[in-house]
Amino acid sequence: MSSDQVQHTPVLTREVIEWLDPRPGQTIVDGTFGGGGHTGELLKRVAPGGRLIAFDRDPEAVDRAEALFAHQNVTIVHGDFADVARIVRELGAGPVDGILLDLGWSAFQLADAERGFSFDIDGPLDLRYDPTLGEPAWRMLERLSAEHLADVIYHYGEERLSRRIARAIVERRVQRQPVRSARELAEVVRRAVPKTYGGSGGRIDPATRTFQALRIAVNGELESLETALKCAPDALREGGRIAVISFHSLEDRRVKQAFRDDCRYEVLTRRPVQASEAEQQTNPQSRSAKLRVARRSGELRCD
Ligand SMILES: C[S@@+](CC[C@H](N)C(=O)[O-])C[C@H]1O[C@@H](n2cnc3c(N)ncnc32)[C@H](O)[C@@H]1O
Repeated sequence: MSSDQVQHTPVLTREVIEWLDPRPGQTIVDGTFGGGGHTGELLKRVAPGGRLIAFDRDPEAVDRAEALFAHQNVTIVHGDFADVARIVRELGAGPVDGILLDLGWSAFQLADAERGFSFDIDGPLDLRYDPTLGEPAWRMLERLSAEHLADVIYHYGEERLSRRIARAIVERRVQRQPVRSARELAEVVRRAVPKTYGGSGGRIDPATRTFQALRIAVNGELESLETALKCAPDALREGGRIAVISFHSLEDRRVKQAFRDDCRYEVLTRRPVQASEAEQQTNPQSRSAKLRVARRSGELRCD
């Protein structure tokens, strides 16, 4: 599918606007531009006089942002949201009124055969958000021992059959050839686990957790999230808000803990906000989305 046929439907848009509460003249950081759905909605709310600072690690998302929002009040940054405080400072744009992080991958990345995000596409198993940095997942599969691979799949995929799956990947590497494509990995995993295996009564593909684990590992996703949560208060004004949408428990747990334990945050959402029944029907991606929001408190010291 060519990228102009792809669309990314943003999740929880109404709820993000309600909780971030952007006002005319404000500056908001969208730390995960993707297809720009949230950026566009936020931009309407900060007009007139307001500004968006949009980040993405993916150079293609940055090109999209430039094509969509050139000549508008959007500053586009190719970078990791972990660097939000430094970049806002260097732009002379801080402190900002709000920060949004909508974690994970976009529909553009999923549809691109060269990226390896989709199980059934025969392209290289890359899985990097920024293909100019680090190593692709297929190289990690070539390099790691079965034991190390099992740890990655267990810790980042919460996969209880991690040892069995890692052994199958390494056996294939030794006996035939290393796994190179997304489809090959999905097939190796499906063959390694019992036929009836899979979450939610078999509705989740058995390869889902292994792909999640490799994607988290090659992108250092949890480290980026933890750093962003630690540094975001340095970029926010007192009373400014941060909203994070996560899609699995490893992310959600970190957001919940940071908002609860860092005294510079005041939790606004006691429970995570989830998509309405209607949104879940029309956008299946929204079913696992959880939105948590906090306000930058007046505390400057935590001791
Ligand atoms: C779920 S999509 C965002 C969709 C977007 N909110 C929209 O409305 O189209 C997540 C995006 O975040 C980017 N991303 C993931 N981790 C990142 C990080 N640490 N820093 C910056 N961008 C990141 C991905 O490349 C992807 O484009």
